[in-house]
Amino acid sequence: MCGIIGYTGAKDVSEVLLKGLARLEYRGYDSAGLAVLKDEAIRIVKKQGKLEVLAEEVKQRPIEGNTGIGHTRWATHGEPSDLNAHPHNDHTEDVAIAHNGIIENYKQLKEQLGENGHIFKSETDSEVIAHLIASEYQGDLRLAVAEAAKRLKGSFAIAAIHKKEPDRIIGIRKDSPLILGLGEEENFIASDIPAVLEHTKEVVYLENNEMVDIKKGKYTVYDEFGSQVEKISTKIEWDIKQAEKTGFKHFMLKEIFEQPEVLKQMFQKRIKNDTEVVFDELIISEDVFKKIENVIIVACGTAYHAGLTGRYMIEKYARIPVSVDTSSEFRYRDPLVDKNTLVIVISQSGETADTLAALREAKTKGAKVLAICNVLGASIARESDGVIYTHAGPEIAVASTKAYTAQLGIMYLFTHYLTKVRGKADNCPPDFLKELSQVPKLAKRMLKQYRRNENKMKGYAANFHKYYLARNNKSCFLYLGRNINYPNALEGALKLKEISYISAEGYPAGEMKHGPIALIDENPWVVCLAVKGDTYEKMLSNIQEIRARGGIIVAIVSERDSTLKGKEANYVIEIPETEEIFSPILVAIPLQLLAYHVAAEFGYDIDKPRNLAKSVTVE
Ligand code: F6R
Repeated sequence: MCGIIGYTGAKDVSEVLLKGLARLEYRGYDSAGLAVLKDEAIRIVKKQGKLEVLAEEVKQRPIEGNTGIGHTRWATHGEPSDLNAHPHNDHTEDVAIAHNGIIENYKQLKEQLGENGHIFKSETDSEVIAHLIASEYQGDLRLAVAEAAKRLKGSFAIAAIHKKEPDRIIGIRKDSPLILGLGEEENFIASDIPAVLEHTKEVVYLENNEMVDIKKGKYTVYDEFGSQVEKISTKIEWDIKQAEKTGFKHFMLKEIFEQPEVLKQMFQKRIKNDTEVVFDELIISEDVFKKIENVIIVACGTAYHAGLTGRYMIEKYARIPVSVDTSSEFRYRDPLVDKNTLVIVISQSGETADTLAALREAKTKGAKVLAICNVLGASIARESDGVIYTHAGPEIAVASTKAYTAQLGIMYLFTHYLTKVRGKADNCPPDFLKELSQVPKLAKRMLKQYRRNENKMKGYAANFHKYYLARNNKSCFLYLGRNINYPNALEGALKLKEISYISAEGYPAGEMKHGPIALIDENPWVVCLAVKGDTYEKMLSNIQEIRARGGIIVAIVSERDSTLKGKEANYVIEIPETEEIFSPILVAIPLQLLAYHVAAEFGYDIDKPRNLAKSVTVE
């Protein structure tokens, strides 16, 4: 959470920083700010609210300079305000910093520094960093940052400048991401690649505890002991277009529409001759997969739902016991994990603090850890024993869509791979991979149909909006699913609540009568995932039970199934017919669209929902 950027070169630094911050805004948008270094002075401008407020301020009062740092904030310590916005400086205004992470011992440090005459202005934990660096400064910013870092507890990616050191930025990271962008006579540091992509595709991933010293035409990386480290740069294959809306109204909608292509590319690259799955980057040996006795999948939010779906697949076909846990619970419950356990961590960003901590916990206990990750070179990918990348491209909207279905895609492939490696290939239907390869085409067709009838889904959302207002905001959503689509009920509810702020819960439909059915009257809209499959008939009975109590039914059904249309269901959304096992990807897409349209109807900022950030790097 929070995005930081630093630039030194010949360009107008405010323009570079503002553009870079726009691409980091998914990490937080409570406030934003810049600190620009020029003529032995640092000028800071920072504003509460989204980046556009800061951009307007800079337009009105331009700041000249070629070296500076910027920040976009997701508030942890201290409310969103101009004062709490970054960058922060020390009371002498010699040093300015931008910080992503949490300084756990900031109170003690503040007290100590206060006793030595430091005056603090904000309520943040981060301000202490600027004071600490200033107090350690003896003519070399790098050494001062290194000394300050030794006294910090918690997580941080920091960009620091000093007024007496023109053209120089020091970056350092511990448990928060930081990359280095290499240009011609210009260099960058940033929390994520899209921030620098307009200027360079040549990046260096900094490891934990590494520090970088950048100047216009030069950079040096140091390890935690102060020794120089040789780094190899990586050429980023994707294009800046992938981080732009390209005509779509929102990133979320664009990313929903990208799903068929992401999955098509994934299956084309990883499935050989319809019979074999290849994971080129996987460095865990087959022997390990042969010997494992159980699997634990650990993740947060949407990624956790992908893990829950994965459990159905792995248990059904590979016949290995699988448990699934949220990272924040797994890491604190002293889990039973040993060398025969495979822990799979799933994360889009690869930086989620709880998942990273869970991964470390699992490794300490001797388990092999496999990461399923979207962001190349992210901490979770680097620290795991092996990684499978989802290659969904940058996901900018805070609400995860294409990363989710890509995680599901990998779960199918990994299940097949596991059955084969363990000599149980016959457990999978013979045409498993062939059928799976059809899913992107079906998804594409479904999205085309949706485009043609866009008003239908919009109409459902508009009706809900009216209904909600007419009932004094008492209406809410329930999502019910069974079997392999039960996790989609959780995901549908999560998608809706995070962008439309409407109360929504997901349940296994069979659990309704054990409590939640008490909620049913004429107020809730109940989204029932009723595609053809083993539990279809049971789902129909649940729908009757809800209908009998006045609930409004939105049914997601298989194409050509007219059982509910115009009868028990008030609204029907069709998905292409497929085997039940392959339905989750297809069911997920209309759930995403429904959430999108409801949020649009309410007029909310879909790509930047309140209180959230894309990359949750605090615990
Ligand atoms: C929901 C959403 C979050 C993330 C969760 C984990 O739309 O985006 O629930 O899924 O914060 O993030 P990653 O996958 O980056 O570990």
